[in-house]
Amino acid sequence: MISIIILGSGNVAKHLFDTFLGQNEINILQVIGRNKDHLSYFKSKVEVSNDFNTIQDADLYLIAVSDDAIPEVAKTLRGKKGIVAHCSGSVPLKALDPINRRAVFYPLQSFSAGKKIDFKSVPICIEAENKNDLNLLEQLGNSISNNVQEVSSEQRKSLHLAAVFVNNFTNHLFHIGHEICEDNDLPFHILLPLIKETVKKLDYITPLNAQTGPARRNDRSTIENHLNQLKTKNNKDIYTLLSKSISEKYRNEL
Ligand SMILES: NC(=O)c1ccc[n+]([C@@H]2O[C@H](COP(=O)([O-])OP(=O)(O)OC[C@H]3O[C@@H](n4cnc5c(N)ncnc54)[C@H](OP(=O)(O)O)[C@@H]3O)[C@@H](O)[C@H]2O)c1
Repeated sequence: MISIIILGSGNVAKHLFDTFLGQNEINILQVIGRNKDHLSYFKSKVEVSNDFNTIQDADLYLIAVSDDAIPEVAKTLRGKKGIVAHCSGSVPLKALDPINRRAVFYPLQSFSAGKKIDFKSVPICIEAENKNDLNLLEQLGNSISNNVQEVSSEQRKSLHLAAVFVNNFTNHLFHIGHEICEDNDLPFHILLPLIKETVKKLDYITPLNAQTGPARRNDRSTIENHLNQLKTKNNKDIYTLLSKSISEKYRNEL
């Protein structure tokens, strides 16, 4: 049985909490957060506190707070014997207090309020300073996911950068598509099969081979027409930059 205390009461804290609750081998002792109201989500099922001086002893402290607040929250765990792990993709392990057994437990997924996630398919990237701590994180990860991997701070930094491109930027492009549909009385849902196929085919072919469209074909008149249709400078700039990047990538095949 692994005893856990979660620090933070936001999206990741809630998703991890809900997933851990269903596991026999995990015992959540407390959820600690600075805001009493935000702790109400947890309080019917576990002890909660907004007093960082009341933190109990546990095998593992999971810090699920905003990236910038991780070092400050970690300081409240000085003197604790358990592993102190943060959940961030972009913060190095060394941002934690060296007095503690430092570690990282990073679930590589996009968590939003109100959208349940099946953790079985979520890659859990773990890092620790010694084999025993890594084993415990691996055991914890394996209890909720089929994909637990050791990833160094340096690798995680790059993984997070790649994740921004494939998730945050694509989602913003979905939003631009959504606006274009709305402006022209079209339902955004008409694009969903295309979006899903774009992602599904990556199971079989690389993004480089999957690319289609006017920029890959260097179809100048279609590109000009699209640019004329766009209303804002930002959207024209995004279209131009992405088209240039695609055209240059495939220049040699035309
Ligand atoms: N969201 C994702 O998709 C995702 C995915 C993987 C990893 N992560 C990582 O998970 C961590 C938490 O992200 P999140 O999405 O759960 O963020 P979030 O929903 O914005 O929640 C942030 C939490 O941090 C707390 N907090 C902020 N500053 C604090 C401080 N100075 N002292 C104490 N608590 C403080 C907030 O407390 P209040 O409620 O009082 O404001 C809130 O509970 C981050 O390291 C993030 O990089 C996020």
